[in-house]
Amino acid sequence: MAQPKRVRLVEVGPRDGLQNEAQIVPAAIKIELIERLVDAGLPAIEVTSFVSPKWVPQMADNAEVLRAVLSSSRRRPEVSYPVLTPNLKGFDAAIEAGAQEVAIFGAASETFSQKNINCGIAESLKRFAAVVDAASALDVRVRGYVSCVVACPYEGPVDPQKAAWVARQLVDMGCYEVSLGDTIGAGTPASVKRMIEACATVVPIERLAGHYHDTYGMAIANIYASLQLGMAVFDSSIAGLGGCPYAPGASGNVATEDVVYLLDGLAIESGIAIDGLLAAGGFIASHLGRPPTSKVARALLARQCRG
Ligand code: HMG
Ligand code: MG
Repeated sequence: MAQPKRVRLVEVGPRDGLQNEAQIVPAAIKIELIERLVDAGLPAIEVTSFVSPKWVPQMADNAEVLRAVLSSSRRRPEVSYPVLTPNLKGFDAAIEAGAQEVAIFGAASETFSQKNINCGIAESLKRFAAVVDAASALDVRVRGYVSCVVACPYEGPVDPQKAAWVARQLVDMGCYEVSLGDTIGAGTPASVKRMIEACATVVPIERLAGHYHDTYGMAIANIYASLQLGMAVFDSSIAGLGGCPYAPGASGNVATEDVVYLLDGLAIESGIAIDGLLAAGGFIASHLGRPPTSKVARALLARQCRG
């Protein structure tokens, strides 16, 4: 299949990135970060997650952050602001705070599912079906995730057919799109290609997205391989923030700056301004007290300094 002419990026830094920070980032900083990402042209920004604050204390301010960005004068009507909801309790809280799009998150590995959401895959699908039913009654869009599509931090390599089976369940349930998570960033173009090919036999490629962590530095190569298969939606994280608290050793998602540089170089439209990303990435990096992990951001900032 031909490389797409246009790609949609889903920014996951405020959720996937900040959920894994040792320090709790104040709500006001998260809100400013999200608004800078809106200014940079991101079409979708995952704002937060409605999960247990005992499990993920970094997201305890979920309702405050979501309410603030949805009522902000900098909100743009064309931008979507999804939030993670693992069960009906999280869904109800998200709706109460104004959510118009939610995401459910399953896994292709039993052990990871247990560690991450405290139930096995079959039970998780029952919980997700209840969320999707409640969402469809309110006209709320639901995105799905499958974690550990290539490898699991506990079980090792994952059979692509298992990832494909879970992806299909989520689409059959009513998810408009399924994001395929290489949670520990162990994939290479070869293993990611095998996994996408398996998924695309049961779910149209137009409804699949790539969510690649960059632990082994392979994420950009994996996106390039995915583009060659016709995939046109990718998740990325400003400044390369992130990881999953229940995936030991996993580093952040591929940096949004790196993906936009790749897309610009391939003449694939994304609608995102790299200068705006540098501003947003610089903002959160200075708050966290460390430079962005994005190589593109570092190179462009160094060039700006040299004048
Ligand atoms: P549980 O303990 O099985 O739930 O947690 P429970 O129903 O037994 O309830 C236990 C307590 O949690 C109760 O409170 C509930 O009220 C509360 P208590 O009576 O003890 O005070 N509770 C909740 N509180 C707030 N929001 C909720 C909620 N549900 C129950 N929604 C649960 C199940 C899923 C909640 C828990 O396991 C959890 O919060 N896990 C965290 C999952 C998470 O956020 N992981 C990181 C995101 S996933 C990810 O990063 C991967 C991804 O990026 C893709 C990739 O990279 O592959 C998406
Ligand atoms: Mg992730």
